Amino acid sequence: MKVYRLQESLKTKKFGKKIIFLREINSTNDFAKELASHGIEEGAVAVAEVQRAGRGRMGRQWSSPKGGLYFSIILRPKIKVSEAVKLVFVAGLAVAKVLEEIFRLKVEVKWPNDVLVSGKKVCGILVEMNSVGDHVNYLVVGIGVNANVNVEKQFPEHLRGTATSLEKELGEKIQLEELFKRLLEKLEIFYDLFLESGLAPILEEWKKYAFFLNHHVDVISEHEKFSGLAVDVNSDGALIVRLKNGEIKRVLVGDISVKIM
Ligand code: BTN
Repeated sequence: MKVYRLQESLKTKKFGKKIIFLREINSTNDFAKELASHGIEEGAVAVAEVQRAGRGRMGRQWSSPKGGLYFSIILRPKIKVSEAVKLVFVAGLAVAKVLEEIFRLKVEVKWPNDVLVSGKKVCGILVEMNSVGDHVNYLVVGIGVNANVNVEKQFPEHLRGTATSLEKELGEKIQLEELFKRLLEKLEIFYDLFLESGLAPILEEWKKYAFFLNHHVDVISEHEKFSGLAVDVNSDGALIVRLKNGEIKRVLVGDISVKIM
């Protein structure tokens, strides 16, 4: 990746003004946390060609072969710990919009943090936080895009049914630098909007891609598993599910799989 050329044309105030390019690293999120703990400025980014131990949500691995885009951005918003989850929607919307704008793909989002194409995952987002008391000290927003990845050859077998790549969907390789640049620009726009106006305008747009709403979903939350109708995502970013018996559940941390009925 030609980072210097990319930085020259980057239309941002803060995001990507400092980029640390790594050929190989365990996890850009871990690297970014280290940088953040040493005081690096907001908007600094770590990007890697390959991750040896890419991490996903809920303790999962994130397969990170060559050809994908793996980066982590450091943010220092003045928000409460309880609000940190909101950044997942900021990032998810930025990715969805960029993939739609550049590649004209039909993009969907799945609560809380997945971006899908053709019903399969093309991008995952992992937001991690460091706090002081009740307030966020820094956030690391990690984004992994299956870009120029040959799903059949480069991904382990168990992912082939649920993951896709831009290369697979488009039938050709994409320009990683351009995608990275456009993502940084869009992330900054939506992050600024979030700081100014809160989550509402972001969530309103995000819901336009949220195919799972009004569908039956299986939910795995922190403490339990259940099924029901996904009725909404509320202003905190929580998923609202209506059970068969009419009971309403509110899930802030968890995962869903959408049932085809
Ligand atoms: C998920 O879907 O579970 C989240 C996946 C997040 C992957 C990205 S790749 C860049 C950053 N570094 C990591 O180790 N994980 C995130």
